[in-house]
Amino acid sequence: MRELALHVLDILENAVEAGATRVELTIEEDQPGGWLTITIRDNGRGMDAATLAQVTSPFFTTRNTRHVGLGLPLFAAAAERAGGQLVVESAPGRGTTVLATFGCFHPDRQPLGDLPGTLLAFLLSQQAPDLHYHHRVDEDAFDFDTVDIRTALGDVPLSNPTVRWWLAGFLQEGEAEMAAARWEIAVGF
Ligand SMILES: Nc1ncnc2c1ncn2[C@@H]1O[C@H](COP(=O)(O)OP(=O)(O)O)[C@@H](O)[C@H]1O
Ligand SMILES: [Mg+2]
Repeated sequence: MRELALHVLDILENAVEAGATRVELTIEEDQPGGWLTITIRDNGRGMDAATLAQVTSPFFTTRNTRHVGLGLPLFAAAAERAGGQLVVESAPGRGTTVLATFGCFHPDRQPLGDLPGTLLAFLLSQQAPDLHYHHRVDEDAFDFDTVDIRTALGDVPLSNPTVRWWLAGFLQEGEAEMAAARWEIAVGF
């Protein structure tokens, strides 16, 4: 994978498969400190210690459908290539937290990629859990909670074409502000 957003989508799908009704996705970029963290916390069924011990091994899966247990190992490899690591905390009935750290300016750190597209795909997917999103770049942040959005919409579903159009613009604008908060780093001069 070339984009962290695609890894994030994979980890969000794990939360959905674990029956989560609420997910918190936090992306924090600290440029003076030189680090980037991505945290995905869910309230799904969680994992026992034996499962947890195996989740970052390639091809470990408890699924018998579709693909092959690479979501967490690939995310771990992306973090390690960029001078960081992946930590998974989980307990049965207590949900799961996946924390990935990266060297923000490490040459092998993948770009965040299309976060608005990833978020939109997730929010419009069948049985999407509630999402609390927080993206911070130094002092600036973009936040939303689908609970608030749904309350404001009343009976109108997120998939309503007008809402979809509004949501796409809202996500693009929020992420554009985060991009503007980033330092321009000149490399190779
Ligand atoms: N958020 C989660 N909650 C509960 N179990 C999880 C979660 N994420 C991963 N797992 C467990 O770890 C296994 C491996 O996950 P992953 O590497 O993404 O591969 P896959 O999703 O293809 O099985 C899953 O099959 C599941 O048993
Ligand atoms: Mg997976």
